[in-house]
Amino acid sequence: MDRPLDRPAATRAATRATTRTAVVWSAVEGLLGGPGQVVVDIGGGTGGFAVRVAGLGHQVTVVDPSPDALAALDRRAGEQGVADRVTGQQGDLADLPGLVPAGSVDLVLCHGVLGLVDDPAAALRTIGAALRSGGALSLLVGQHHAAVLARAMAGHLVAARELLEDAAAGPGERRFTADELDRLLTEAGYTVSGMHAVRVFTDLVPASLLDLEPGAAASLLDLERAVASRPEYLTLAAQLHVVATH
Ligand SMILES: C[S@@+](CC[C@H](N)C(=O)[O-])C[C@H]1O[C@@H](n2cnc3c(N)ncnc32)[C@H](O)[C@@H]1O
Repeated sequence: MDRPLDRPAATRAATRATTRTAVVWSAVEGLLGGPGQVVVDIGGGTGGFAVRVAGLGHQVTVVDPSPDALAALDRRAGEQGVADRVTGQQGDLADLPGLVPAGSVDLVLCHGVLGLVDDPAAALRTIGAALRSGGALSLLVGQHHAAVLARAMAGHLVAARELLEDAAAGPGERRFTADELDRLLTEAGYTVSGMHAVRVFTDLVPASLLDLEPGAAASLLDLERAVASRPEYLTLAAQLHVVATH
């Protein structure tokens, strides 16, 4: 019988990574129509999503300031046989108007980047200008309340108190609440069509328990999927995923 502890650590890490991205990937897949869509992945890094999207037959441009990430993206795209459908462009979100024609993009992925920019409202307007009319944005950000809780549970009580008052306090990215995101997107001309709670349990359940309990990883994934669309879980989620059209 395959027991979790018999499996190599790399396999267990891959399972955990799949659990973290499963809800978002399902939503992204649902946004993509037939092959040949024009997709831009802002801050797409090493291409974890971009290469999968290209694998479905779409044309993906990754805009990222990191040359190392773009080199890893090229390698990954080559290994997966989609190098002809993935283009890496070194640049910042603010450079988008010079890299992508206005009104030309079917889908923008902006995952883990909005909390890194100085002016999130301006960033959303910049993305909106790149989208074609009716084009979609897949936005993934850290969620403020869960970040406060995580700091407190780790014993960093002063840091938790600071973060409670200021979503940009301390190291790392700025976090957002669901209401704040909704307002930012609406003011930037988007219509929000879906908001998902992401990583509600995954960051809380100790890896050691998952490794010990046969079938626990599958049960955790099932639980994450079950709460993703329940609004009462948005405040508990480590991340919020929003689908919005422009
Ligand atoms: C947290 S990682 C997220 C990577 C990927 N999107 C994902 O979800 O796995 C943030 C990425 O954004 C890039 N980045 C940082 N600042 C950026 C900016 N101002 N504009 C575009 N990308 C940026 C980083 O180089 C990095 O690859």
